[in-house]
Amino acid sequence: MRAEDPRTIRLDEYRPSDFLIDTVELDVRLDPTATRVTARLAIRPNPEGRADAALTLVGDGLNLVAASIDGADLRPDDLDVSPDQLKLANPPRGPFELTITTIVDPSANTRLMGLYRSNGAYCTQCEAEGFRRITYFLDRPDVLAVYTTRIEGSKAENPVLLSNGNLAETGDLGDDRHFAVWHDPHPKPSYLFALVAGDLGVVEDEFVTMSGREVALKVFVEHGKEDRATHAMESIKASMRWDEQAFGREYDLDVFMVVAVSYFNMGAMENKGLNVFNDKYVLASPETATDGDYANIEAIIAHEYFHNWTGNRITCRDWFQLCLKEGLTVFRDQEFTSDMRSRPVKRIQDVRNLRSIQFAEDAGPLAHAVRPNAYAEINNFYTPTIYEKGAEVIRMLKTWIGGDAFRAGMDLYFERHDGQACTIEQFIACFAEVSGRDFAQFLRWYAQAGTPVVTIRTTHDAEAKTFTIEATQKTPATPGQPSKQPMVIPLALGLVGQDGDDLPLVVDGAPAGPVFALTDETTRIVFEDIATRPAASLFRNFSAPVKVVSDVTDEELLFLAAHDRDPFNRWQATQTVALRKLVADVAAFRAVRPISPEPKLAEAIGRAFDPAETDCAYAAQIAALPAEGDVAREIGENVDPDAIHAVRSLLKADIRDRLAGPLAAAADRLAETGPYSPDAASAGRRALKYAALDLLSAGGAAEGVERVFALYKSARNMTDKVMALHALSIHATPEREEALTDFATLYSRDPLLLDKWFVIQASAPLPDTLDRVEALMAAPGFDMRNPNRVRSLIGAFGSGNPTQFNRADGRGYAFIAGVVAELNTLNPQVAARLLGAFRTWRSLEPERRARAETALRALAAMPDLSPDVADIVNRALG
Ligand code: PHE
Ligand code: ZN
Repeated sequence: MRAEDPRTIRLDEYRPSDFLIDTVELDVRLDPTATRVTARLAIRPNPEGRADAALTLVGDGLNLVAASIDGADLRPDDLDVSPDQLKLANPPRGPFELTITTIVDPSANTRLMGLYRSNGAYCTQCEAEGFRRITYFLDRPDVLAVYTTRIEGSKAENPVLLSNGNLAETGDLGDDRHFAVWHDPHPKPSYLFALVAGDLGVVEDEFVTMSGREVALKVFVEHGKEDRATHAMESIKASMRWDEQAFGREYDLDVFMVVAVSYFNMGAMENKGLNVFNDKYVLASPETATDGDYANIEAIIAHEYFHNWTGNRITCRDWFQLCLKEGLTVFRDQEFTSDMRSRPVKRIQDVRNLRSIQFAEDAGPLAHAVRPNAYAEINNFYTPTIYEKGAEVIRMLKTWIGGDAFRAGMDLYFERHDGQACTIEQFIACFAEVSGRDFAQFLRWYAQAGTPVVTIRTTHDAEAKTFTIEATQKTPATPGQPSKQPMVIPLALGLVGQDGDDLPLVVDGAPAGPVFALTDETTRIVFEDIATRPAASLFRNFSAPVKVVSDVTDEELLFLAAHDRDPFNRWQATQTVALRKLVADVAAFRAVRPISPEPKLAEAIGRAFDPAETDCAYAAQIAALPAEGDVAREIGENVDPDAIHAVRSLLKADIRDRLAGPLAAAADRLAETGPYSPDAASAGRRALKYAALDLLSAGGAAEGVERVFALYKSARNMTDKVMALHALSIHATPEREEALTDFATLYSRDPLLLDKWFVIQASAPLPDTLDRVEALMAAPGFDMRNPNRVRSLIGAFGSGNPTQFNRADGRGYAFIAGVVAELNTLNPQVAARLLGAFRTWRSLEPERRARAETALRALAAMPDLSPDVADIVNRALG
């Protein structure tokens, strides 16, 4: 964080609000361009605030019409008003009622924060600071109020009128006007407020909670899409049941509603009782959604529902504590998915994702702590570090103190802090109390940015029959944090003997482990009674979010790949061998030296296609090589994305040549027979089939391409179609063009299919990709105001296409910077997110690095840069 930035907000400058707001009565008269909002606020001085303070309510671009205190109009000179603030120098020193009327224009709101329109419907997005675009307010998460919301509007245009809580009253006003009043009894911060109005279809169901209360469930979608809402509805019920069983948490209103909207900046939002979703994460049918879509919908519905307790009932004191709700809720949704589907597969997917996105962030100029201590723009802190690393920290905590203590700590947290706005310290104190442990050092996980590197050296002493593990931890410097202190790193391990079984772990003459806490810079663990050198299975189940550098040999890893009883490490072993090889191959390739063949790796991957392997989803993970980004990160500096791509393609072709028979057999065996079902086992079979086809078509091999094309043509569900199209799209063949043209006739069905078509073309590692992306921006269907379209076409190019974004001529960088410049005023949040493509620019080889820097500097020099974009540009250039 740049110290000179005047907007910088600091954790250590936190002060309680000088005033509190107990109740909010909102009266919203809908109008497409002039919606009138009257807010009646019951305000009183906060006993913990300053006694003689002025009252400053924040706004964002507001237009004040009237204001009164206890019924008496305020005249302009009683007030200090601007679009961004309403200030009363001398407010009453006891409780009073402040009434404010503002007019907002939802149709002109392209930022999609505050009240805006999505395909004709009205909706709101208030997290983090959108409520201030509706009315002047103490728009901070530690001000909790009870809301009553009256919505009035045209009956024909808005038959549906929704807000948080329970429906209290409805009425017809004649002349095409009607109203609804919603009351939410649970005090909440303004960021959880929501309002939706429009002409929407609804799917209804019911859930009976563990204490027997009946809850009405409603999913609102655009008319005609009701049959695509059933999977979301099933996911709501599953989530409600799971939170009761896993955490004892019950739902607390008469109704739970989900609304799908097509214009949305993020994935979804946990507004109390009224979750608003990007429709991409609600709508699914076999004809329009892939296996991945079904899984995402289930996980995101769960995530938002779980926020009801971790986020809503207990919220954050300030935005520095964002991981208090997000890291914890991601952990909870990961556990939910693990219970609903395959636990090892979920773990592997989460770790792949963590490494490719969060490790990359942590290694570059945008690195920040899980709980940052300063920010210039909070919107830019909804990051993989807050979410995914935040979840890993919770997982480590559980690994460290054990499952029972973890549950006891969660129970205590819910009991003690219900209805409060909390800090990380208050959360952690619950676990310290139930476990009796000292968490002072553990808290460094929240404060220190960067991925710790754990270097492991192993030695076997045949004579003494000891096996020693020496672990050294080092966290690299990150922006603003030149030196780091040792963390508490839980190391879960096993020592695998020659028969493939785990050896008993004996330390100091007593049984030990399997989890060891590494707390010092160097920790030595001496295992006794070890006659022959075992294969060390380290960080089982990925017990800590660290990078491991070990002297475990490829031979030992390949042994673990076959025998480790920890499924995560069976997968990891193969990945590590592949990654080591890819890094060595890139060096050879760039030095124009021959690349060595690797039959053993092919053998390990070949096990995935053995007909005896019944867990197909797991096998598909074994079959997938590390991504190009993983190789880039492992190399770390002077990165040449073209060399990585070339070498990885060669390795795939080599594996294909060695496994041609089993791959073809697997593709045949796994061909779809019955009707489509999105369940985890069926999806797993399809995933393994694609892994086989991807290898078979490596390098654009004619026979493989033919097979994939045949699948494309015969596909009877969207998963097969999209996966085949994707596999075809990476090679410049006539089949590719034919399939892309054919798919174009399908997306008239739905914009979400158009998005899939965009993503596939934008991520193709082909030299004409950028020209195509530019052409598609002018094609019908593309809309710069719709974040899903922007992310699918431009985001996929920037963040999902390493070779073409990093074109040697720098055109990729200039292109993304150009789009960011255009979006800077239209939708600064989406613009700033696109810039994330530059998060690893410093590790590139010098010529690309210079071109990336030129593009960033051009942006930095632009006048009127939004705070969102300026913050990322400044930190990226740091
Ligand atoms: N709080 C949302 C979630 O993670 C994410 C979000 C943040 C949505 C900001 C919109 C705006 O569940
Ligand atoms: Zn969340």
